[in-house]
Amino acid sequence: MTFAELWRELEPIGRDPQTGGYRRYSWTEADAQCRAWFTGQAAKRGLAVETDNNGNLWAWWGPKRPGAVVTGSHLDSVPDGGAFDGPLGVVSALAAVDLLKDKDFSPERPVVLAAFTEEEGARFGVPCLGSRLLAGVVDPDAARVLTDDAGTTLADAMIAAGTDPGDLGPGDDLLRGIGAFVELHVEQGRALAPMGAALGLAEGIWPHGRWRFVFSGRADHAGTARLTDRRDPMLPYAATALAARQAAADRGAVATFGKVIVEPNGTNAVPSAVRAWLDARAADESVVEDTVTTVRSAAEGLCEEHGVTLSVRQESFTPLVRFDQALRDRIAATLAAAGVQAPVLPTGAGHDAGVLAARVPTAMLFVRNPTGVSHSPAEHADLADCEAGVRALAAILEDLAGPA
Ligand code: GLV
Ligand code: MN
Ligand code: MN
Repeated sequence: MTFAELWRELEPIGRDPQTGGYRRYSWTEADAQCRAWFTGQAAKRGLAVETDNNGNLWAWWGPKRPGAVVTGSHLDSVPDGGAFDGPLGVVSALAAVDLLKDKDFSPERPVVLAAFTEEEGARFGVPCLGSRLLAGVVDPDAARVLTDDAGTTLADAMIAAGTDPGDLGPGDDLLRGIGAFVELHVEQGRALAPMGAALGLAEGIWPHGRWRFVFSGRADHAGTARLTDRRDPMLPYAATALAARQAAADRGAVATFGKVIVEPNGTNAVPSAVRAWLDARAADESVVEDTVTTVRSAAEGLCEEHGVTLSVRQESFTPLVRFDQALRDRIAATLAAAGVQAPVLPTGAGHDAGVLAARVPTAMLFVRNPTGVSHSPAEHADLADCEAGVRALAAILEDLAGPA
């Protein structure tokens, strides 16, 4: 099938008709439909699909042997996410297999298509949860009791979706069998368009993390509680959001409060608590730490002023990632031979490739995003660029899985 044909099939699943954004949260009905679609497509191509202990999907082209060449991405989304972040890599992988089959290519090392679970951490808070569990950098017991905003644990969500959470944990044998992982992904940011390049290669990923701030005050009546008597957690939270912006601007970092839960969330009540999640990223780990420390001490001072208590907890952290230089050079040479110049870019976005990079030679291929907007229904890549991505991926797989 062509990229466009595959894309059209997946496109409606989990899309909100009002916003046009995707709500493909892990272990929900939309997620089940995406997984079933992927499994069905893989089966149509004669690939053997397996779910690993952590809910990640692996579709094998060729018998299991060491040195597998893995490509893929994720199918889950952020709230009202774009169509491309994740699915572009999965659909391109299927389309690349079709291109290779059309030319009767037969892999010497298995080509494996992967779809990782809970990459965005949109439901259970820890991004790249499926690949982190696989790599053994998240404790399975801690993962099982992660909760979504409704209080459902990951374990219960998996059981409700018909998957056993009892065996979550490292997949050392699986990882040992991987010779290379290449994740194709929509560009997030706008570097390729001004360079006139349809494709790019990742140099590395900025260190980044998530911190949960809980501001606890006292609920009260919005009409009768005197301003001076209030312990309103919204006020230190609001000032902390501004402080985060300033702390990031002062250091060349980025810091975002993108998720806030207000309790009890009544128009005519002073809130009892505000829970807010800080996402902070920078080129250097020390800059991320310094930014977060600055935001935290601003929040502490503001809470004291307002009679509010504060607790802060780090929920995830990803150190600086540098992708494998030798693999990137080999891919660049393959692309150059096909007449494609792919600039090398750093990124502030997290990826399963960033987690796997600690264990296997890993590379990323970016497809131009003309506006750079991502994590938004406005995220976009032109069809011609997606097709160029598929051709490039097919050439990369042919080289990596072909005769040595
Ligand atoms: C994933 O897209 C992230 O960078 O948060
Ligand atoms: Mn994303
Ligand atoms: Mn992604």
